[in-house]
Order: sequence, then structure tokens, then C-alpha cells
Amino acid sequence: MTASQQSVEPFDLVIFGGTGDLAVRKLLPALFHRFLDGQIPASSRIVGIAREALDDAGYRAQLREALLKICDAAKLDEFLKQVFYRPLDARKDDGWDDFAALIKAEPEHVRVFYLSTSPELFVDLCRRLGEHGLNLGQSRVVMEKPIGRDLDSANRINDAVGKVFSESQTFRIDHYLGKETVQNLLVLRFGNALFEPLWNSAHIDHVQITVAETVGVGHRAGYYDHAGALRDMVQNHMLQLLCMVAMEPPSSLAPDAVRDEKLKVLNALRPIGDANVGSLTVRGQYRAGVAEGDHVPGYQEELGNTRSNTETFVALKAEIANWRWAGVPFYLRTGKRMPERVSEIVVTFKPVPHSIFAAGSGTLAQNRLVLRLQPDEGVKLWLTIKHPGPGGLRLRHVPLDMSFAEAFGVQQPDAYERLLLDVVRGNPTLFMRRDEVEAAWRWAGPILAAWSASGETPRPYAAGSWGPSASVALIERDGRTWHDDNE
Ligand code: BG6
Repeated sequence: MTASQQSVEPFDLVIFGGTGDLAVRKLLPALFHRFLDGQIPASSRIVGIAREALDDAGYRAQLREALLKICDAAKLDEFLKQVFYRPLDARKDDGWDDFAALIKAEPEHVRVFYLSTSPELFVDLCRRLGEHGLNLGQSRVVMEKPIGRDLDSANRINDAVGKVFSESQTFRIDHYLGKETVQNLLVLRFGNALFEPLWNSAHIDHVQITVAETVGVGHRAGYYDHAGALRDMVQNHMLQLLCMVAMEPPSSLAPDAVRDEKLKVLNALRPIGDANVGSLTVRGQYRAGVAEGDHVPGYQEELGNTRSNTETFVALKAEIANWRWAGVPFYLRTGKRMPERVSEIVVTFKPVPHSIFAAGSGTLAQNRLVLRLQPDEGVKLWLTIKHPGPGGLRLRHVPLDMSFAEAFGVQQPDAYERLLLDVVRGNPTLFMRRDEVEAAWRWAGPILAAWSASGETPRPYAAGSWGPSASVALIERDGRTWHDDNE
């Protein structure tokens, strides 16, 4: 069955932060692609909201220009006819009555309110939606991460949003869960008899999760400087990936069955705090260097603040204190301005217990299962085989390589395409429940506190490098190395 055969009810999708980076770069292109596949019913409306004094025509013109850079022009104008704009300020009354009337004009539509703004505005926006009765009927609210900046602020937001929208109406999005390979991880683990018996500390040596980006923070510096890599990537995306690797088999794909299992993993993470933060974590900040062939400025220059201590790189060693994973390190690494854009999960199995091969045959490397999220989504299983032909028994380490694009001849849809339609359909399986967000903050908060108490500044690294050398030392201390697919 192709995606276009799954029906979607008519909906109104309201994007608060409609002129922002996420809306223009990700949400609108995702909706346009679903439109091209015939999944946006003709009466559905997409309403951008921001403070700028624009009208429908002005907004469409802005989007047209932005979308043309990344999407095909064909049918774009037809799509844009379903797009509208309303100027609104979360903290001012003007315009809210008209906006409510616009939405209420289609009482049968599923309503999705996407909060793609800074988290400080979530509370005011939800209060206003509630005051105007827009939380009733088939209404849903989507919150972008990070939700808050620590456990307290996350609780404040969740409490306030919870007064207006019930938990079943609340979709906390983590777009990594919508990535094709992440969903495929579920299928690989639970759809094959091969892996699950080996998926534990008896057979797995360690797990690495890397999310490396070549971009710097650029025009997002204002947001980023208040967040940093731990809040921006680790507390959400990377912990969610870790949960998908480590969770027990859920009894079904029912939303709470999956989320209950992820929560158990988060609750089992061994705490990192003042006593061990120095040995288990490394944080870095990029300096000027060469990225993608160009000389690029350092983080502080981009930000215009030479005193910023915000980390743009984190490497850490996490441990899950339960029966399945005791003693198996999960090494996590993420950074901006890395030499390549790569996101992958690498599961390294233990070595064979004894070698029957002569010393001159070559080394017996450990098996590795590499799940590549991007680019070139796919799965590689590294095996040891005999080098073909005469010349004695020579051992080679080669991947069984399945690139999804090659295997299926399709371009993978962007994660937001899947997730936006899941919201319309009311399926929260791939969204974070409140208790998951809290558990993630409960683990991440003490790391942030310990960094700040240490008085140390992030270690510098040159743009275009793999981060501070301490990150290499972190894993090499344990006799392991970061996975390099080119080796
Ligand atoms: C976002 C972060 O959630 O994810 C960004 O805020 C980051 O800093 C982005 O660049 C990475 O997403 P992707 O899908 O490009 O890997």
C-alpha cells in the first residue's frame, strides 16, 4: 500500500511561528509533499500565524520563494491556495476573535495547533486557544522540543497546557521518531527472529549513537545559545534513539505500550552528576575552521558574544542499569560543524570467544550493525568473510549493505510528513508522553547542573573536526573507538 492510499480527514493545521525557520524549511515542504501525494483533502486549511503584519497573499509569496528553492514548482500555486495567514501576538488580544471565527467556520475539521515558537509562549498560546473554545472537538496541540529548559520549566509548561488540552490531545513532537530508519529499527528488532536473542549484554559489547551536522548555528544563534547541544539534541532526539534501541519488546504498537517501554529505559539511566560528570561527559564549542571546503567563523563570532559557554558538541557515556543492559555502554555524540553530516546507530557485538584462524589470516573484527538515519538511509551488517580466491584463508570484514534508496528506489519522506499526518489521524505512538519528557529532564538536568558547578568552559574544537580530542579519549579509555564507516 502506498502512503497516498491512506485516507486523512479534512483538517485545519495552524502553525504558530508560521514565518519561522522550522515552518518554512520543514513543515510547509512536508505538507506540500503530502499534497502532491493527494493526502491533503481539498477543504483543509493551513494557517500560518506570526506577529508580522502580513496577509494571505504576502505569506503565500514568502512561502513560494522559499519552497521553490527546495520543491518542484508544479502544483505549488494550487497548494498555496490552501494556505492562509493571520497576524497574532500571544500576549495581545488583537485578532484572536477573528482567528477563532475562522477556525470555527469548519466545525467538523480536525484542528491541529502546532506550537513552533519559543517554549515561553506555549502557555499564553494555549490559554488563548482555551479561552476561545478552540480546544474542543477534534482539537490537538503539537509542542516542539525542547519543552522547557529543565524539569521545573517543563512541568510548568505541561501543567499549563494540560489545563486546556488533555494528554490525549497533546502531541510532543520529536521528529527523530518519524525518521524512516528509526521506525525500521522497530521492525528489524521485532520483525526478525535473528536479532532479539542477541540483543542484550551477553552478546552486545556497546552501542554508539552519533548525530553529526556540518552546519553551524548561523541565524539560530539566539535560540541556540539558550539551549546548547544537550538540551537541543541529547535530552530529546538522542535519548529517544537510545530508548528505541534499548526498550523491551512492547506487547503491541499501541501508543502506550511503546511509550511505557521507553519510559522504563529513561528511568533506568544511571545518573550523571557532580561526581562523575568529568569522566563520563565531554562538551565542546567550535572555533573558526574549515567546513565543507569554506572558512567558517567560530560559534562565539557567529553569536557576537565571546563569553558564551554554550556547548555545540557533547559526547557522553550513558549506562542503563537493568538486567538486559548492565555493563553495556551507550556512547552518544552530537555536534555542529563536524566534518560530515551523519546520523547513525552502531551496535557492536562481542568478539568470538576463540579464534581458530592462523595469526597471518588477518584480524577477526567484531560484528557491527549500523543503522544509518541520514544521509543514505539504510542498514549495514558488518561480517567477517573469507577473501575470495586462492592465496590462503584471508579474513575480510565487509558489510552486508542495504541502502533503502537503492533497494526500494524511493526517496525517503521527511520525518515531518509522517508525523504531521499522524497528528491529524490522532496517533500518538511516535510522540513523547509527558512522563517521558520529565524522565529525560530528570537525567539531563544534573548533567547541566554539574557542568555549571564545575566552573569549566567547553573545550574548543576546530570547525570541520570531530570535536575535542577528549571525546576520542572518552571512548578509547574503554579500549574502543568511534565507528568510522570508511574504515
Ligand atoms: C533540531 C535541532 O531539533 O534537529 C537542530 O533543534 C538540528 O539544532 C536538527 O539541526 C537536526 O535535524 P535533522 O533532521 O536535520 O537531523
